[in-house]
Amino acid sequence: MRTAPKSIIRTAVFPVAGRGTRFLPATKASPKEMLPVVDKPLIQYAVEEALAAGATRLVFITGASKRAIEDHFDSDQELEQFLERQGKSSLLNQIRSVLPSYASCIYIRQPAPLGLGHAVLCAQPAVGSEPFFVHLADDLIRSDVACLKQMADVYEAKRASVLGVQVVPRADTDKYGIVAVEADQSATTRVRSIVEKPKPSAAPSTLAVVGRYVLTPSIFEHLEKLGHGAGGEVQLTDGIAALMREEAVYAYRFAGTRYDCGSKLGYLQATVEFALGHPVLGKDFRHYLRDLQLQMKPAPSRRRANGGEAKRSAARQLPG
Ligand code: G1P
Repeated sequence: MRTAPKSIIRTAVFPVAGRGTRFLPATKASPKEMLPVVDKPLIQYAVEEALAAGATRLVFITGASKRAIEDHFDSDQELEQFLERQGKSSLLNQIRSVLPSYASCIYIRQPAPLGLGHAVLCAQPAVGSEPFFVHLADDLIRSDVACLKQMADVYEAKRASVLGVQVVPRADTDKYGIVAVEADQSATTRVRSIVEKPKPSAAPSTLAVVGRYVLTPSIFEHLEKLGHGAGGEVQLTDGIAALMREEAVYAYRFAGTRYDCGSKLGYLQATVEFALGHPVLGKDFRHYLRDLQLQMKPAPSRRRANGGEAKRSAARQLPG
């Protein structure tokens, strides 16, 4: 039987109520968190990261059309019996180990899409008065040590809220919460200020909060008092700004690669790189990509003869 790694943070909150309009029509009837990267849905990567950091209580803040997430983490007797009859024991083990028996799932419905801050506030009855993780499944992070585990270690050292951050291009600051910090070069440093989605010209830095947070329970008092912020929503960023007036908040530059799976390009990048690293598929996929690259490259002799034209005519026509 699997046992949970030791951690003083027991609860992970997954806000999954968003409609995923950027992936329509794929997300019309199915949650964006169920989009697969190779062979696992985004939400399973999210849960695995939280479990690796020691979480045992998984709180999903859900909305319309999110039933598939509940089904994914529930046991499926019919499927298990079918796989057993077929002798597919490896698949059976994979299905059974989606969620270890020590972990429990709590589903709370967010009554209306009022923003990330509101979604986190909806988790309060399940979180209680303990520190907790917030994980945004759109931000997929590949790392040797789970990103939330790295952040839990920072929490243990500082006993304060921790935000996972990374440098982004200045042109993209209006997609993120942006922090100004005390020591620009340190992995862990105190946050001086935080602002939601500033214009590139107004951004205090290019250090962006990606979807990983360790928060102290005092955040709830601040979220309760908040009005609607940027985009008419209750912003988690504004709650953190208010929290910082009373408590230290740290920014942590995690070790790992992050893929923005809320965008089609980021999702495709994640798919390619996770496929390359896949234990069964990786080798064949690498060969496939090499062949594809060779087919797309212009032949050197023709390029010399015809210049730029040869480049275009020798290029492989990709579908679509
Ligand atoms: C949310 C947060 C933002 C954060 C981002 C990370 O924005 O509001 O502060 O930087 O997640 O992905 P969203 O992507 O939901 O617009």
